[in-house]
Amino acid sequence: MALSTPRAYGGAMNAPLLAAVPWWRPATGHRLLIHGGRPLVGTYPISGAKNAALPLMVSALLTPHLVTLRNMPANLDVAVLAALLQRLGCEMHWSHTPSGLSVTISADRVKPREIAQDLVTRMRASVLLLGALLARCGEASMPLPGGDAIGLRGVDYHLAGLRALGATVELDDGMIHATAPAGLRGTDIVLPRPSVGATENLMLAAVLASGTTTIRNAACEPEIADMAACLSAMGASISGAGTHEIAIAGGKPLGGAVHDVLPDRIEFGTLACAAAITDGELLLPHGRIDLLGAAAPLLAAAGVMLEESDAGIVARRGRDDLQGIDVTTGPYPGFATDLQAPTMALLTRASGASAITETIFEQRFRHIDELRRMGANISVVGRTAVVRGVERLSGAAATCGDVRAAAALVIAGLSASGRTILDGLDHLDRGYDRMAEKLAACGADIVRGSETR
Ligand code: UD1
Repeated sequence: MALSTPRAYGGAMNAPLLAAVPWWRPATGHRLLIHGGRPLVGTYPISGAKNAALPLMVSALLTPHLVTLRNMPANLDVAVLAALLQRLGCEMHWSHTPSGLSVTISADRVKPREIAQDLVTRMRASVLLLGALLARCGEASMPLPGGDAIGLRGVDYHLAGLRALGATVELDDGMIHATAPAGLRGTDIVLPRPSVGATENLMLAAVLASGTTTIRNAACEPEIADMAACLSAMGASISGAGTHEIAIAGGKPLGGAVHDVLPDRIEFGTLACAAAITDGELLLPHGRIDLLGAAAPLLAAAGVMLEESDAGIVARRGRDDLQGIDVTTGPYPGFATDLQAPTMALLTRASGASAITETIFEQRFRHIDELRRMGANISVVGRTAVVRGVERLSGAAATCGDVRAAAALVIAGLSASGRTILDGLDHLDRGYDRMAEKLAACGADIVRGSETR
């Protein structure tokens, strides 16, 4: 099926950068206006995972053959990465199929051009281009990547791993220059901690390196196993993806593949929280309880019911009031740091106190001040936030500080009485495919606009 009329996404500031991404069009409004207090009832289809789609798109750089990715999420991060890949010489053909957005990527004529600052600083995942370009072209240069303002988020593990694979990596005035003219060589790498991005970057480099690479203390997030499944379909030999030790027998030229992007476990958990806090009931097609890890029993303990049905997962609050729970984020299968902010929004309305400890990123409490504006009772000691549930939240003006904080503020706004006005919507658009539209279809009073009303 051909592409339909482009839909509205993102702020006007993205328009020139993203002109070459056909489904992208700047949204009309830079504010989200929510009148809370209405139960969410209806069907909210869960998209392909952003955090799987990005490394999968980069995987296509490893082969001159066609890679087709189906069930792609249409969010701003995907659009930005698409623009980046096009600047590197990739051809991308997008189509809407009954199963969602698909892209076919041809990296036949990829060239290791210097990657532009404007796009890289918007998205930390762009650092994955380093491993893939080094492997495919023998060189790569890019500015140090950006992304959420949620912590130091260094790339030292990435660079150390690439050096261990035989690359020369230099840092010069905020730029990374990496070369491997004689190719990369497989080796043993032990990550200091299970970094998702470093695991993916080193896998991308290692599949074209000669010999075997072992990545120990690897991250085992489901998105890594999804990337490995696609690379395997392209002809790579990878074992152990999804565990803490991954072995890659590299050096074989890769072919093309057709791959369905894994459903988004973060969007799923977020919408489950939204259903429960609004006393609604959402059918979440493509939601997967098994991908939630530690979040599944903890959300259940808080009173978020998830029931399997033929059409997807039904999410709602259980018979009792929401209950406070204690949460500590951790690498998968621990409680996902990306669900911390949405869960905190949920717990602002739970009975009793909750202690939420963030162990992955040091500045991932940017939503707390904004939730407090809405009447939440939250105090912070070090890396732990203590949330004491309140009877009601009140709508307020708030600013989204990062992707997951944005989702948390939407959840709080849906539950609050009165009007909530959210700014900083690029953050929401980075991670979610038309969230406001989909929520409105489930009965929320939520519109995107420029004016207050
Ligand atoms: C990915 C996800 C992000 C998620 C995070 C943790 C994508 C596109 N993003 O981010 O949504 O919140 O995993 O599940 O998939 N670190 C270093 N040096 C490094 C690499 C990481 O110190 O070279 C630190 C980071 O600062 C952070 C921790 O390791 O404190 C974990 O980061 P990492 O797992 O690498 O997160 P990302 O891959 O950036």
